[in-house]
Amino acid sequence: MASSTVIMMIKPALQASFGNHPTMPIMLIAIIIMLASIVAGISQYVQTIILEKTGLNIVAELRRDLFNHILKLDVSYLMRNHVGQLSAICMEETALVRDITGRIFVGSLQDTLSFVFLIGIVIYQDWQLALVAMIAVPLLAIGKGQLSVRRKKLMRQLLESRSQLISRISETLFNVRLVKIFSAEERETDRMHQSFEDLSKLHLDTLRARSLSLPLNEVITGTCIILVMLVGSWRANLGVMTLPALTTILVALISAYRPLKRLDDFGNSIQEGITAAERIKEILDLDSEVKDAPDANELLVGNGEVVFENVDFHYSEDKPCLRKINLKIPAGSTVAIVGPSGAGKSSLINLIPRFFDPVGGKILIDGTDIKNVTQKSLRNSIAMVTQETLLFDDSVANNIAYSYPKATRAEIENAAKAAAIHEFISSLPLGYDTLIGARGIKLSGGERQRLSIARSLLKGSRILLLDEATSSLDNISEQDVKQAIIHLPNKPTRVVIAHRLSTIIDADLIVVMDQGAIVEFGSHKQLLKNNGLYTKLYLMDQEISVV
Ligand SMILES: Nc1ncnc2c1ncn2[C@@H]1O[C@H](COP(=O)(O)OP(=O)(O)OP(=O)(O)O)[C@@H](O)[C@H]1O
Ligand SMILES: [Mg+2]
Repeated sequence: MASSTVIMMIKPALQASFGNHPTMPIMLIAIIIMLASIVAGISQYVQTIILEKTGLNIVAELRRDLFNHILKLDVSYLMRNHVGQLSAICMEETALVRDITGRIFVGSLQDTLSFVFLIGIVIYQDWQLALVAMIAVPLLAIGKGQLSVRRKKLMRQLLESRSQLISRISETLFNVRLVKIFSAEERETDRMHQSFEDLSKLHLDTLRARSLSLPLNEVITGTCIILVMLVGSWRANLGVMTLPALTTILVALISAYRPLKRLDDFGNSIQEGITAAERIKEILDLDSEVKDAPDANELLVGNGEVVFENVDFHYSEDKPCLRKINLKIPAGSTVAIVGPSGAGKSSLINLIPRFFDPVGGKILIDGTDIKNVTQKSLRNSIAMVTQETLLFDDSVANNIAYSYPKATRAEIENAAKAAAIHEFISSLPLGYDTLIGARGIKLSGGERQRLSIARSLLKGSRILLLDEATSSLDNISEQDVKQAIIHLPNKPTRVVIAHRLSTIIDADLIVVMDQGAIVEFGSHKQLLKNNGLYTKLYLMDQEISVV
């Protein structure tokens, strides 16, 4: 608008300067131009701030929704897909979408407006000349259409490669000790170098496809201006139009091609934003396989009896993992699951909180099929210590209280005492407020495990699942933790997976698994009498202890 005002002033300014029928005093023209510039400057500043703020708000909401959606996706999906890639999409792709929501969206609106105004000036001065100038628009549109298909394909490849690369970098840094112990720094750098180069090449290809429109724009717009100039001077010679009018038209046209070119550039960015938005939408459209039934009720957990009825399960169809599991875990009892590595022990207990769903049979808690209750209420009634210790880079207290954020410091300390970690925490300079580093890096393996146990005990659930929860503990700490778990005041149902059989001989029931099936069960004494797999495992365990 401001630039249109300035252009509108050209004709009176020329007339005033050359004394050719002046319509306005030159000082008034100067004041109008000055005011127009001040208004333009202030409005641009205000607009930029408002736009950036809107764009940032939109992107923050999008990131929150996307993150929330990703967290709700199936464990199996998140295990199959690189978490790094999803994080990259959460941050990078959303930033591209932000561009089209704020700055570019309104920028293109502004440029469209100024283009329309400037062309309006041309039409006002001489509509026939305006027609000549408008030839550029359809020509540019045809050229752009041809280029955009290839650019879109390249842009998608670029985004995919970039997220893979970000994922690869975080994975390598995550496994830095592995890289160092096998002196793989050079190997990793070489591999990364190749990926960086591939990405640069892809970037360049995308840029080439994008920049091809520049010469196209220049040639078409340049030709149109020449045409207008020739036709205009011919018409001026004929006396149909005046020289100040032709000057105004030419300046307006040259100024109008600038927003047109910027619109073209915005078009490129919008296409990038749309490609990014498509990738985000693909994730938002993903549906979970494990989901609440439409009529799911809250689980009203009673004593916490868990029953497996004919449960079959596999991760992939060609490899069965659990076969015909029938098992009754009485409420309040301690059931140990033992068996060789890969027997399916972790898979079995991962079915209880519905990290995965069985492909056949059902699991009942206090007589209710867990598929018929909400996942939230189901998981609220379960505490679990997973085989890999999972911790956040936060304080000791917050890590323990993760299972029950409302816990008081006294409750947190009681849980830590039960998990035989209170004394250690108290010895730390900042006690419970000590930060434990990324994934608990500042703690020993046993300390990490005890912290996870404290976290699960604090929850006070009816069902407690412990997957190799004490495997890194020394014998004394293990005995302490074991006693605490046996004497838990609310007597939850406890399912304990253990390789060290000495730790589970007092369990109410011992279930022996092999190759996805239950092969034996009973008490320690009964199983020894059977002289089967359990006896073999137990004797081996004893030998290892003696050695
Ligand atoms: N996410 C997964 N995707 C595909 N296969 C899996 C997955 N997790 C486990 N498996 C396979 O399922 C089988 C059972 O694994 P599971 O982890 O349940 O064994 P486990 O008895 O807990 O062994 P361990 O004592 O070593 O922890 C194994 O053959 C394993 O390779
Ligand atoms: Mg396991």
